[in-house]
Amino acid sequence: MSLEDTLRTLREEASREITAAANLEEIEKVRLSYLGKKGSLTKALKGMKDLPPEERPVIGSLANEIRDEITGKLEDARAQLELQKMNEQLESEVIDVTLPGRKVRKGASHVLTQIREELEDLFIGMGYQVIEGPEMEEDNYNFERMNLPKNHPARDMQDTFYITEDTLLRTHTSPVQARTMDVHDFSKGPLKMISPGKVYRRDDDDATHSHQFQQIEGLVVDKNITMADLKGTLQIFAKKMFGEDREIRLRPSFFPFTEPSVEVDVSCFKCGGQGCNVCKQTGWIEILGAGVVHPNVLEMSGVDSDVYSGFAFGLGLERIAMLKYGVDDIRHFYQNDQRFLEQFKVRR
Ligand code: PHE
Repeated sequence: MSLEDTLRTLREEASREITAAANLEEIEKVRLSYLGKKGSLTKALKGMKDLPPEERPVIGSLANEIRDEITGKLEDARAQLELQKMNEQLESEVIDVTLPGRKVRKGASHVLTQIREELEDLFIGMGYQVIEGPEMEEDNYNFERMNLPKNHPARDMQDTFYITEDTLLRTHTSPVQARTMDVHDFSKGPLKMISPGKVYRRDDDDATHSHQFQQIEGLVVDKNITMADLKGTLQIFAKKMFGEDREIRLRPSFFPFTEPSVEVDVSCFKCGGQGCNVCKQTGWIEILGAGVVHPNVLEMSGVDSDVYSGFAFGLGLERIAMLKYGVDDIRHFYQNDQRFLEQFKVRR
């Protein structure tokens, strides 16, 4: 076959193969098989030198023409295939904005956390500090410093988880009273604090008992603090928690660390005081314990009880929540049943 015929054959074959190539890889293969170092067109062009000189310009320009043609067709095909590939990709990755979104389930504050924060806000608004103490406490702070010496009969009131002879899980938040008074600088002003936190008692869990629960302690110490200050403060608290129409009453009670001591009742928020099942027909519901800080407690922190006096209160957060929301079993707060917890979900 003459070189001219070879060239013309290659031109047709290349054109056919380019048209048949289905993707970029195949195009590249075609390119190499014609224009690569060992490609058939490259090889054919090497035969130019064997032509008689007068034929060279004619065949030479035909060869160039064919090479340019094949190169051009390869480029067109490549561009076409690249476009096709991009379109396929766009097609497959398309986002259907009409599809419904996936719902993100948001967490929410536990109902006890909500009440604790509500109370913290209330007392912060009245100038109190929020101070936390350790849950693993010294026997000294939990009892002695609360005017409960060893062998004091009132220690029986609280069943204690002991860790060692001298350390325990605190049975109440009252030890934070002593810890705070120890470091407060009374020359700079009154002490007003609340202390929320977990406490522990060796109770068997039932509808009204839990071996772990939460308290909020309150303590105010200054010159001339009296039971009247306590009553006014708790009145504000009761109205905030249970409604503006609520009243409180104080009943005599006993705590070793307060004298006098009181139990505080709130007028029944269900019947308004008439008597119903919630208040057991009394019109009143007990909500917390309180009193005037015992002079011994002040003195043990180095506070002069002839100059200073104070009031303290301690409330159970679960009890407040149970009353406020009509929850009949304290264990609900700790079982993490979504059906229970979701009732208290609030948007923030
Ligand atoms: N610490 C007491 C209790 O756990 C509550 C209390 C606190 C009473 C402060 C009086 C004053 O029952």
